Amino acid sequence: MDTQVQDILDQIDDTLRARLLTLRRWLHQHPELSFHEVETAIRISDELEHLGIPTSYEGEGHALIARIDGRDPTRQAIALRAEMDALPGDETTGAPYASVYPGRMHACGHGAHMAMLIGAASLLNENPPPGPVQLVFQPAEELGGGARIAIEDGALDDVAAIFAGHVTHEYETGKIMIRDGPVTAQSDRFTVRVRGKGGHGARPHEAVDAVVISGFLIAALQTLVSREINPLHPSVVTIGKVSAGSAANVIAEQAEMYGSIRTLNNEVRANIHKGLKRMIAATAELHSAEINIDIEEGYPPVINEPVTVSVAREAAADIVGESAVVAAEFPSMGSEDFSYYQEKVRGCFVRFGARHPDWEPIPLHSPAFDVDERVLGIGTRFFDRLARVGHAHMNRLSNGL
Ligand code: NI
Repeated sequence: MDTQVQDILDQIDDTLRARLLTLRRWLHQHPELSFHEVETAIRISDELEHLGIPTSYEGEGHALIARIDGRDPTRQAIALRAEMDALPGDETTGAPYASVYPGRMHACGHGAHMAMLIGAASLLNENPPPGPVQLVFQPAEELGGGARIAIEDGALDDVAAIFAGHVTHEYETGKIMIRDGPVTAQSDRFTVRVRGKGGHGARPHEAVDAVVISGFLIAALQTLVSREINPLHPSVVTIGKVSAGSAANVIAEQAEMYGSIRTLNNEVRANIHKGLKRMIAATAELHSAEINIDIEEGYPPVINEPVTVSVAREAAADIVGESAVVAAEFPSMGSEDFSYYQEKVRGCFVRFGARHPDWEPIPLHSPAFDVDERVLGIGTRFFDRLARVGHAHMNRLSNGL
């Protein structure tokens, strides 16, 4: 694997390689939190300006969008997306290029993603592809669904399909994971508030017992997944925390329950939300209580579309070889806002192995997370190839969803 990775990197010239390393290290050293990607946007703008690629940018909290025209600018574009934001937390990598800001770090590798896109932009600019390539540097992937802002800023204008990749230690450097169908789950949280009527523990007829009502509701919710959802569609409803009451001989007036919902399919998710609300309304009616629910929606699931998957697989095999293109058996239960793009156009989200063969795997978001920097070359060459393969299959990509 390692000699093969070296072969792939050898095809990038030394000047570009040095530039990408410097860029990635600078970005890693200067992490900025969601919606505050100011220095980051300036640095990326400078890189694009250096390449002579026109950009549009509406300022802090917005996406930085750049378009490479290619040989025929009238065609629809292939979009490539990278995230700009970092995470709260103190870095423990001890790397010479570690974060210079206390309390912030690029623990999700987004600095590497941006450098890869600049690398691909450089190759695409030098040797123009058949049609346009839209480079999307989006804000706030970690918090706030910056993809939606990027779409409002024009990220998908005249775009046939969008692609993105994410580094991971799940695979060694040189491997690319491409999965058909669901890649990440939807994760929603909810809070249920039960309001009854407090009273003396010995005089239940004068009270409405929030604890008993909560018990009924928790039991009732167990049939939501087991009896109402197709067993072939994975889903979970968990009540993870309950709080109520003050003393053994006092009937509780209020109770709160906190839960989470995991789904891989939008229809199942909508049915669970509807079912929760229905059971809550019915339980309130049944026990003369007042019950409210707040559902905090997370990102929709990332679901890779088949035509874009085949394009990504072809590009990946061209770069790393067929045997280094892998498919995870199961989707991850993490979440990603790439799904917002996929609601509008075809899209495929891949993972780049970024673990050096000598390293122990470290999970994303860990304060000790870092990438094997050779992944910058893999990502650069993959995105460059992807734009070309995408244009070769434009007739299949541009047929709409
Ligand atoms: Ni990330």
